Amino acid sequence: MTDKLYIKTFGCQMNEYDSDRVADLLQESHGMVLTDNPEEANVLLLNTCSIREKAQEKVFSQLGRWQELKRERADLIIGVGGCVASQEGDQILKRAPYVDLVFGPQTCHRLPQLLERARAARKPQIDVSFPGIEKFDNLPIPGSRGARAFVSVMEGCSKYCTFCVVPYTRGEEFSRTFDDVITEVFELAQSGVREVTLLGQNVNAYTGRRHNGDLVNFAELLDYVAAVDGIERIRYITSHPIDFSEALIDAYARLPALVSHLHLPVQSGSDRILKLMKRQYSVADYESIVYRLRERRPDLSLSSDFIIGFPGETEQDFEATVSLIDRIGFDQSFSFIYSPRPGTPAADLTDGITHAEKQRRLAIVQQRLAASAQRASRAMVGTEQRILVDGYARRNPNQLSGRTENNRVVNFDGPADLLQNFVDVQITEALPNSLRARLGANRASDFAMISEGSARVLTYT
Ligand code: SAH
Ligand code: F3S
Repeated sequence: MTDKLYIKTFGCQMNEYDSDRVADLLQESHGMVLTDNPEEANVLLLNTCSIREKAQEKVFSQLGRWQELKRERADLIIGVGGCVASQEGDQILKRAPYVDLVFGPQTCHRLPQLLERARAARKPQIDVSFPGIEKFDNLPIPGSRGARAFVSVMEGCSKYCTFCVVPYTRGEEFSRTFDDVITEVFELAQSGVREVTLLGQNVNAYTGRRHNGDLVNFAELLDYVAAVDGIERIRYITSHPIDFSEALIDAYARLPALVSHLHLPVQSGSDRILKLMKRQYSVADYESIVYRLRERRPDLSLSSDFIIGFPGETEQDFEATVSLIDRIGFDQSFSFIYSPRPGTPAADLTDGITHAEKQRRLAIVQQRLAASAQRASRAMVGTEQRILVDGYARRNPNQLSGRTENNRVVNFDGPADLLQNFVDVQITEALPNSLRARLGANRASDFAMISEGSARVLTYT
């Protein structure tokens, strides 16, 4: 009988990527097929996140629900992977002894072996070590899923911001070799991928070795990726201001395939707080990067992450963050109340701010960010935007859906042959979470012919 696999993922894009690879891997090794129903699965995996306390709490309440399923089916395998697994290790088994597998973000490629051992020994198996580059060599190349794909270029983080668990859960930065990355991009392009998102905790810290021993930096990598036939759009997440080189800024002048959209976490608008966070840049440094980027790309849309209520954040520090938000005009961004993470330096700092005050500050920041994103959406109405059509509208399966360069979902009427292609549309309306559009004049008349039953076959070039 075919084993069925159910995976639940919490957290960042890195976790989503790992979950997809794990599904591919278990399909190769055990012929397992994915199911979206935990009740019919033989293997339940939880890919976890510990970046904030809330995410971590969700892990144990989810496991509690799965324990019920295991009471009914003793041979059910329950696995916990990702950052919580990495941080808690065998503590997970103390709190949830019915768990069979514990694996870290750097050992998910060893799951087939761990699973075999757990089944044979009927004992829980733990592997949360950091074997480094081995992961890249042992996960299957992603099967293409349409016109968009993620390509992992580096893993881990060596910045040790004082609030963050990532360096402890994912280990230090290490880059995949240049040859591996570029081969993967090439193969994806061959299979129809038009847009790649280069993935890593600090993608712009990338330094990959070539077969001849030379090192390739991130700006150079972008040149090579852009030169791959078929790749028309390039995104990357996440980058860090201190690795934002002049060459990377210049790439925006040179490479039309690089989207006019950048997620560049700033965390705070106060130099004093940035120092306590050990972010290693000042507000002026950050603004200088933005200024130079906008010299190359006046239409650049910029999104960011903010931490509100970091220990010792005064009203003045907070005001500085609000003022930065107003100066930059950020697009769709994320903001979080500071969450002390065990084992990080900031967890030992005294925190004189009440929770109610943090919530008040967060509400102000979120309101400003939402207003500024809404302004950006409204400014798009009437403009022509190039979108990559990647499916049907969520609420209306008769409409097509795609994404703009600045990552907005656009729904519009159009023929199905546009799927997985780029098309130019005219934005007609800005809704809170998406945009509406109509096809440009040429495509609209083609569509009319199709609707009238014309036998003409359309090819979009
Ligand atoms: N590599 C990215 C960040 C990864 S974590 C970078 O360069 O910044 C994603 C976001 O989670 C961070 O940008 C930060 O805003 C938030 N975050 C991380 N640790 C946090 C904590 N302890 N409390 C609240 N937010 C946190
Ligand atoms: Fe975390 Fe700072 Fe690295 S936010 S992921 S330690 S850059």
